[in-house]
Amino acid sequence: MASNRRTIEGCFQLMGGAFAGAGAASSELKTVLMSLGVPQGIVRRASIAAFEAEMNVIIHAVAGTLHYEVTPAKIHIDVTDMGPGIEDIDLAMQEGYSTAPDWVREMGWGAGMGLPNIKRNADAFKLDSVVGEGTTLEINIFLTEENYADNT
Ligand SMILES: Nc1ncnc2c1ncn2[C@@H]1O[C@H](COP(=O)(O)OP(=O)(O)OP(=O)(O)O)[C@@H](O)[C@H]1O
Ligand SMILES: [Mg+2]
Repeated sequence: MASNRRTIEGCFQLMGGAFAGAGAASSELKTVLMSLGVPQGIVRRASIAAFEAEMNVIIHAVAGTLHYEVTPAKIHIDVTDMGPGIEDIDLAMQEGYSTAPDWVREMGWGAGMGLPNIKRNADAFKLDSVVGEGTTLEINIFLTEENYADNT
């Protein structure tokens, strides 16, 4: 985690199949937002979006990176991963659509709700993918000066 007066940012490496580390990025972001006095509802939206994004790399991709940046204007989260990519983004965005294998479903994942949930909780949402290369996800949740209390 790095910070200057108006920006706090963090970067996490994510590995496909590394369930043990799941949640590290979203919990750090949550802690940062709470320490900034961001309202609980916004903290919750950002945490859910970050967590689902993190899980998607762990479940579906080979490896990736989650980067977050918090300024008085917004919470920005971007997630980039390597392979396999998403063939049909419209289909992937549908509630209940999942290609998660049985062993992942047995762990309680794979309901096909992650991407719709991220979109619902974000103010701006951008998902791009190239099959065989990877996927990029960009999420913004807007803030105002009133809900960014840290003026130190
Ligand atoms: N980073 C990714 N790389 C490759 N495919 C992805 C990625 N993220 C999502 N997908 C594809 O989009 C589908 C829908 O994703 P979504 O997050 O909505 O559901 P899920 O991850 O399958 O289940 P849940 O999120 O409810 O645990 C996935 O099943 C997968 O096929
Ligand atoms: Mg998911």
